[in-house]
Amino acid sequence: MHHIVIISSSVRTGRNSNRVALFFKRYIEENKRATVEILDLQEYQFPVFEERLKHQKNPPEQAVAFADKVRAAAGVLIVTPEYNGGYPASLKNVVDLLTDEWKRKPVAISTVSAGPFGGMQVITSLQYSLWKLQAWTVPALFPVPKVSENFDADGNPADKAGTEKRAKAFIDELLWCVEAGNKMK
Ligand SMILES: Cc1cc2nc3c(=O)[nH]c(=O)nc-3n(C[C@H](O)[C@H](O)[C@H](O)COP(=O)(O)O)c2cc1C
Repeated sequence: MHHIVIISSSVRTGRNSNRVALFFKRYIEENKRATVEILDLQEYQFPVFEERLKHQKNPPEQAVAFADKVRAAAGVLIVTPEYNGGYPASLKNVVDLLTDEWKRKPVAISTVSAGPFGGMQVITSLQYSLWKLQAWTVPALFPVPKVSENFDADGNPADKAGTEKRAKAFIDELLWCVEAGNKMK
């Protein structure tokens, strides 16, 4: 089975987008689509970016461990909140930290907001940064509007059937890209 890492990007106290990361972990595991680990940026608490990992002389152990997990994963699912129309500094920190780890890595993006538009404004800037790093951004969307109405604190969706239908289509695309990439290895 493929291994997927989910990057939960919000480090905010009282954050809500992590609910979506919890949902995806459970959904993917229950449906036996892949094995999953959440890389929770709130737990890592990376310092503000200074230098790319590969140029650091004495890189912190946790940064090396994070990079190893991304490198080893078949695909990455990023769950990101929308902050003022962009993605949070915590996520930019790890996007810039890594280099070769992103190259040709299938990356699916789920955007999350408190408002009605599901964080869609994040997509263009985040996709562009990842494209610059030669990641394979998966052409599928999973926007989550009004997150605290649509998911409870444990990541259970209010509309289970509808959310799981959308999740299936989204995860199908991520795994399609994983399979396509594997054929070229
Ligand atoms: C600095 C900041 C800016 C935000 N800007 C937006 C925004 O532009 N549009 C929106 O719908 N929600 C915005 N929100 C609300 C977040 O989308 C909301 O907190 C959501 O739950 C996802 O972020 P979280 O995981 O940190 O909770 C903002 C929140 C913060 C902290």
